[in-house]
Amino acid sequence: MDSILVTGNGPLSGDIPIAGAKNACLTLMPATLLSDEPLTLTNAPRLSDIRTMTVLLQSLGAEVTALQEGKVLAMSSHGLTSQRAEYDIVRKMRASILVLGPLLARFGQAEVSLPGGCAIGARPVDLHLKAMEALGAEMDLRDGYVHAKAPSGGLRGGVIDFPLVSVGATENALMAATLAKGTTVIRNAAREPEIVDLAQCLRKMGAHISGEGSSEITVEGVERLGGATHRVVTDRIELGTYMLAPAICGGEVTCLGGTIDLVAAFCEKLDAAGISVEETEKGLKVARRNGRVKAVDVTTEPFPGFPTDLQAQMMALLCTADGASVLEEKIFENRFMHAPELTRMGARIEVHGGTATVQGVERLKGAPVMATDLRASVSLILAGLAAEGETVVSRVYHLDRGYENVEDKLRAVGAKIERIKSQ
Ligand code: UD1
Repeated sequence: MDSILVTGNGPLSGDIPIAGAKNACLTLMPATLLSDEPLTLTNAPRLSDIRTMTVLLQSLGAEVTALQEGKVLAMSSHGLTSQRAEYDIVRKMRASILVLGPLLARFGQAEVSLPGGCAIGARPVDLHLKAMEALGAEMDLRDGYVHAKAPSGGLRGGVIDFPLVSVGATENALMAATLAKGTTVIRNAAREPEIVDLAQCLRKMGAHISGEGSSEITVEGVERLGGATHRVVTDRIELGTYMLAPAICGGEVTCLGGTIDLVAAFCEKLDAAGISVEETEKGLKVARRNGRVKAVDVTTEPFPGFPTDLQAQMMALLCTADGASVLEEKIFENRFMHAPELTRMGARIEVHGGTATVQGVERLKGAPVMATDLRASVSLILAGLAAEGETVVSRVYHLDRGYENVEDKLRAVGAKIERIKSQ
């Protein structure tokens, strides 16, 4: 397995291009299953998770062709041969569950293996199943698979009232409702930019949707959906991650294509920590000029709150803040696995349940550390940039699931980072 060698750095300067959103692309791709006409996505990120979704869709008989080095995905589901998502593919990525709604809506049945994914808590799929039931489907869990069957006339509109906000379950419900008969109301819907992006794409395909971006989405089912071309929204998590590089090392970096609306709650915390963020025509210009960052408290929440997917990276920044910061993780249990690794680098962190208290130290020290999940991997790289000496982050395969060319992007702004290929 590859590892990444990071050497502590001085100030960074330059531009970092931000890719299309992994999490948007992972729900836009299964949307192709809703139609027999082509769906083309531009601004797709080049990541192993996207390749996993490609393999999954191809296993169902969909055509998926990566053009322009993977930045464009041309898809067609006119000749679908299967409605069964096999364990061998699904176990690699939890987002595989997103084929459930589209398959069920278009073909009246689906079999999807229960998913795997990052080891950051239990992460059940009960809300996805309840949403399909609210549209009239019968759900049966057998042999590690979800067996879903629509009523004889197909899915019918209904009220889906989520007891807690789920991004994936909202996406599955939204896709399924586009082809259900009648009106569907999704209450306590997730409001993430990726949901808005999905709704915009589905609308281009002919769906009747209103209210996306609010907590109540209404869908009027249509008979069939057509083709579309859609540009994937900017990745707000990649954006926030790279915004932290100059925040940690000092200097000034512009994250190309970034806008404040994607990361407003995160920007508020950066501001409180003493980091300046300015929206320019090119993107977000982030600068840290003088002194240590200030300690800030952070609580993760569904959008528009502070994203859980930036919690680990924010912790890396706060490890060297002046004072104590309290980070509360409200979305996932067991999402502080980066804390013991940061401690190996000299950070002072105490974790009690879903709360971590970080007592800032003057400087971290390089150490061999191990990546445990996608966002933890990149937080260790960020911490390495701020540390004295060398840090080797091992087991970085998670990183390639969510960040394209991380070494190239950071090297381009002056970071000392290289990949050590496994033998
Ligand atoms: C998505 C993102 C992930 C992000 C997360 C929260 C994708 C591909 N992944 O994951 O990067 O960290 O949103 O912003 O878009 N839950 C249940 N039952 C369910 C579904 C979820 O109890 O059926 C719980 C989860 O365990 C978690 C919470 O709901 O505690 C939120 O999870 P959810 O929003 O569904 O996350 P994902 O869609 O899996």
